[in-house]
Amino acid sequence: MQAYLEKFEAVVREQLERVEMMKQQGDFLKFEELDKIIIGVCGGDGIGPAITEQGHRVLEYLLENEVKTGKVEFRIIDGLTIENRAAANKAIPEDVLANLKECHVILKGPTTTPRKGDKWPNVESANVAMRKELDLFANVRPVRVPELGIDWTFYRENTEGSYVLGSKGVQVSEDLAFDFAVTTTQGTERIARAAFDYARKNGKTKVTVVTKANVVKTTDGKFLDICKQIATEYPEISMDDWYIDIMTAKLIDEKRRSDFQVLILPNLYGDILTDEAAEIQGGVGTAGSANIGKRYAMFEAIHGSAPRMVDEGRDIYADPCSVIRAGAMLLAHIGYSEKSDKLYKALDICTVTEKKLVMTGRDNGATGAEFADYIMETIKKC
Ligand code: IPM
Ligand code: MG
Repeated sequence: MQAYLEKFEAVVREQLERVEMMKQQGDFLKFEELDKIIIGVCGGDGIGPAITEQGHRVLEYLLENEVKTGKVEFRIIDGLTIENRAAANKAIPEDVLANLKECHVILKGPTTTPRKGDKWPNVESANVAMRKELDLFANVRPVRVPELGIDWTFYRENTEGSYVLGSKGVQVSEDLAFDFAVTTTQGTERIARAAFDYARKNGKTKVTVVTKANVVKTTDGKFLDICKQIATEYPEISMDDWYIDIMTAKLIDEKRRSDFQVLILPNLYGDILTDEAAEIQGGVGTAGSANIGKRYAMFEAIHGSAPRMVDEGRDIYADPCSVIRAGAMLLAHIGYSEKSDKLYKALDICTVTEKKLVMTGRDNGATGAEFADYIMETIKKC
C-alpha cells in the first residue's frame, strides 16, 4: 500500500511543478521579430517520410524567396522512427529532441504508437511526448464542409486530462488499476483564452465547451468552470456547454450542427470528437492539425502511419493532403497568411471542385508527388 501512495505522491509533486512552470510562462513567440524562422521537417515513420516530403516541397515552393533571402530555413530532422525509438527505449530519442528544440515550428509526419501486444516496447506515443516536451497546449483542428454549412474549429487541450499521466497509471493488484486525469487552472485558462481569442479575431459569435462535468465532476467540472470565467472577458461572444455524449450525436444532426463554431474540449474528448468531425469532412486523412505552444508549434497529419502501405510498397501512393493542409496552417501561424490562403484555395480546387487527379492509395491512382505537383501548378493560377 505504502508503495502506491508514494507513487501517487510523486505524481502529485510532478504536477505541482508543472503548475509552477506554467505560472512562469511568458507570451507567444513573435515571428515578425525573428531574423530567421527555422522550420523543422520531421518525417516520422510508416508513410510519414513519403507524405511529409510532399508537404515540404509545397512549402519550399511557396517560401522560395524567403529561403533565398535567409528569412526562412528548412531543417530535415530524421530519426523519429519507431525503430530508433524502440532502440533508445524513448518516446523521442535525445538527439532528435535536441534538433526539434532548435526549430521554431515543425512540420511532422505521423509516427507509430506502440500498443500492448505488438512487437515494439511500450514506449510513449511520440506525438504525446512532443506535445509535452514542447508544451504544445493547444491542438487546433479545423473542419470545414462549406456545402453542409460546417465551419468548426476545435481547440483541444493537449497537455493535460487523461493524457498527461497516460503512462503513469498504477496497477495495484491483478484486480485493481488506476489511471489519472489532471485539470489545472493555468492549463485550462490558456486553452480557453486561445479559443476565445481565435473566435474574437475571426468574427465568430459562439464558443462551445464540451465536457462530461455531470459525471467527471472534479476535473471536468473545473475545466467547465474556468471556461465560463474566461468567457466573461469576451462579452461579445456567447458560450454554451454540452456533454461529450450528446455532442457526438449533435455533430451528425443536420439541423443543429451548423450552429457550432469554435469548440473547447479536454484532451480525450477532443481526440475522439475531432476524428468524428474529420470523418464528416471526408476522412481523418483530410484533416490537418496544429499543436501550438508559446515557444514552439508543430503541424501534423491527424491520421496514423499506415505501416501496411509501406510493407506493400504503396507509400508513394499515400495521400499527402493532410500534411499539405498542416503546411497551410503552419504558414498562417508564422505570419504568411496570404500564402496560406492560396494553399487552402489550391487544396479546395484539387480535392473538391476540379479534382483532376484521384488518389486511391494504390498504383491505379496518382502518386503523392504527382498530387503535390498538381497543387503547385494550381497555386500559380490562384
Ligand atoms: C491524435 C492521435 C494521438 C492522440 C495518438 C496517436 C496518440 O490520435 O493526434 O489525435 O491520441 O492524441
Ligand atoms: Mg486522435
